[in-house]
This record gives sequence, C-alpha cells and structure tokens, in this order.
Amino acid sequence: MAFVTLDGITKVYENSREPAVKDISFEVRDGEFMVLLGPSGCGKSTVLRMIAGLETISGGDLRIDGERMNSVPAKDRDIAMVFQSYALYPHMKVRDNLAFGLRRRGISRSDINRRIEQVAESLGLTPYLDRKPHALSGGQRQRVAVGRAIVRDPKVFLFDEPLSNLDASLRVSTRNELVNLHNRLGATTIYVTHDQVEAMTMGTRICIINDGKLVQIGPPMEVYRKPVNTFVAGFLGSPPMNLIEAELKSGADGAFKLDIGTQCIELPEAWISYLQGKSGKIIFGIRPEDIFLSGQDMKRGANAAVTMTVTAVEALGAETIIIFELEGVDTKVFVKADRYTRANIGDTMPLSIDMGVARLFDPVTTKVISNNTQLSG
Ligand SMILES: Nc1ncnc2c1ncn2[C@@H]1O[C@H](COP(=O)(O)OP(=O)(O)OP(=O)(O)O)[C@@H](O)[C@H]1O
Ligand SMILES: [Mg+2]
Repeated sequence: MAFVTLDGITKVYENSREPAVKDISFEVRDGEFMVLLGPSGCGKSTVLRMIAGLETISGGDLRIDGERMNSVPAKDRDIAMVFQSYALYPHMKVRDNLAFGLRRRGISRSDINRRIEQVAESLGLTPYLDRKPHALSGGQRQRVAVGRAIVRDPKVFLFDEPLSNLDASLRVSTRNELVNLHNRLGATTIYVTHDQVEAMTMGTRICIINDGKLVQIGPPMEVYRKPVNTFVAGFLGSPPMNLIEAELKSGADGAFKLDIGTQCIELPEAWISYLQGKSGKIIFGIRPEDIFLSGQDMKRGANAAVTMTVTAVEALGAETIIIFELEGVDTKVFVKADRYTRANIGDTMPLSIDMGVARLFDPVTTKVISNNTQLSG
C-alpha cells in the first residue's frame, strides 16, 4: 500500500531564475498508474527525480503514505526508478544486474536467487540470466531494467520514458507487457512520457504538464474529451482537436449562433446558460473524428452543417485524413474519414459537426467556456 502526495512542489535549479516546476499538487492513489505527459522541457523528469530523491525540492511537500519525504535520502524512500537509458552494468551478467540492489541491502543469497528467478520468469528473461547486456536486444535490456526495479519490491515505481529507445513494434509489445505487469503487481506507478499513445493506453489517470505547471489531471478519455484549455486540446490527439477562430453572436430569441468564416451555425440550446453575456471572438474546438462527411456515420446525432473544400487527402490505410479549407477561415480543418473515402483536392462538400462534443474556448485566456460536453461513444 502506497500513495504519493505532491503538495505545492516547486523546483528552482541553481543558476536559473525561472522555476522548472511551479507549485504542482496532485495525489497518486494506491495502486494507480499515473502518467505525467507534456512537451519536452516542461518539467516531467524534474518532478520524477524529486519524488525519487535524486533532486532536492525547492518548495512544497512530498509525502509517501502521508509521511513527509523532502529530506529523506533516496535510498530510504523505498522507490525504484527505471530510466530511458537502461543504465545496466555492462560487465555484469543479467543475473548479477538483477541482484545488485538486493546484495547491497544484505538479503540472503538464497532469497535473492529465488526472487531473481521469479522475476526473470515473469519477464521472459530466464534464458538470458547468464548473458551480459551487450548480448541482449534493446527490448531485452529494457526488461532487465524493469526486472531490477521489480526484484526490490518497492512501494512505488517511477518510470522516465522507458520505451523511447525502442523501435516502434517493440514499443507496442513492451507497452503491453508493462500494463500487464502493473495489472499483476498492482504497484503504485508514476510514468513519464511525451508519447500520447502511451499516456492514453497505460494511465489510470493522465497529468498534463506544460511549462512547469499542472494543466489538467484526469482519466485518459476525460482529458481527451474535455480538454480544459487550447493547450490540452492541441496536444492530445493525432491529428489534434481543430481549433477554429469564430465569432459568437446571440440572437433576439436568446439562441446563440457561431459565425465560422462566411458560414453560420446554430449552437445547441443546452449551451445557452454557459454563454450568457458572451459574444465576439471565440475558438471553436472540434476533434477530427467528430466531423462527418455526409452519408458517413451520423449515428451520434451530428447536428451542424458546414460546407468545406478539400485541400489535401492523406490515405493512411486504416483511415483517411482529409484536410479542408473553410471560406474566410485561416486555419485548416482536419477530418478523420473512413478508409474507403475518396476525395479530390478542390472538391467542395457538405459536412456535419457533432455539436454534442464540440468545445468553445476563450481566445484570451485559452480556457474552455462550454462545460456541457458529454462523453459520447
Ligand atoms: N540540472 C539542471 N540544471 C538546470 N536546469 C535544468 C536541470 N535539469 C533540467 N533543467 C531545466 O528544467 C526544465 C525541465 O527539465 P526536465 O528535464 O524536467 O524536462 P522534461 O519534461 O523531462 O523534458 P524531456 O521530455 O525533454 O525529457 C528544462 O527547462 C531544463 O532545461
Ligand atoms: Mg525528461
């Protein structure tokens, strides 16, 4: 049982005035798989290293199981960390790499051997126990690094981009292995990545960090479906959410309309309460899979019609991305269509927008305005 609490954690590195991590607070629950996601340089590794005790904490409190850890040395925190560079000892066999941390802790030889065999078995490393790291593939080395963390049976696992040195197919299989491992061990885990597919598929919750600050935290689908600002909307998803400049107008009947370039769409009645007193420039957010070519999947009640012109078609095999132009709008609009879609550059066609999952953002604060989005599908 272990839960980790960050309470206003801040990091200011020596020789730098700007904090690398700014007042971050969240709790990782017992057994949870928390993913820290954000662009390069946003402070993910710094947060992880402070939890591990590899970096001093400049402000705020770090607690494990409610106990303050700020000044507890790394070796006494009962945490295991796996890095992107596997950091195995090259001159030692796999068996000795796995045993290293245990020997230093004075565990008996027979106990060590028993644990190593168990862990090697569970990670498929048994045939390689007597090899040295140079004779292993990248994926196998990575598993040894994970194994070294598991044999210690720590309270908390920390991973810092452990898959980023692996090629694409190995990433997918190792990702699945790590998820299965977590399901089996149920250990509290904090996992850093800038890969959104890893974040979406592995995390119990995702914590999105930008510029040293926590932007949003929640289950993957909630963060994906209900981004709190344009940063999250534009960061998650491939292609990300379309963020289209628009003009909000209220009609005499109390209904709201949106001018998108030369076209006008009606906003759902349910939004009226959120939009009271608002008008003028606004950002209209809609995911590429929530715009439908006429005749394609309209099950979810797509309900605003627009006409757009094709500027590019990307047939990806499993799906087709069509990039459209909207008259009078600078931003291109990405639409995910099914793999059988045929479209030609220059075609002008009618499309439907599923307004039930659209978002409106304030162009000045970048924050979401509509808060009525329901999870659909
Ligand atoms: N030892 C250090 N001294 C001074 N500044 C540092 C140090 N380590 C990191 N930084 C700075 O702190 C900020 C956050 O770095 P950090 O390594 O935590 O980012 P990250 O989110 O892990 O990025 P990446 O995805 O590239 O690994 C960056 O601006 C970085 O330059
Ligand atoms: Mg990093």
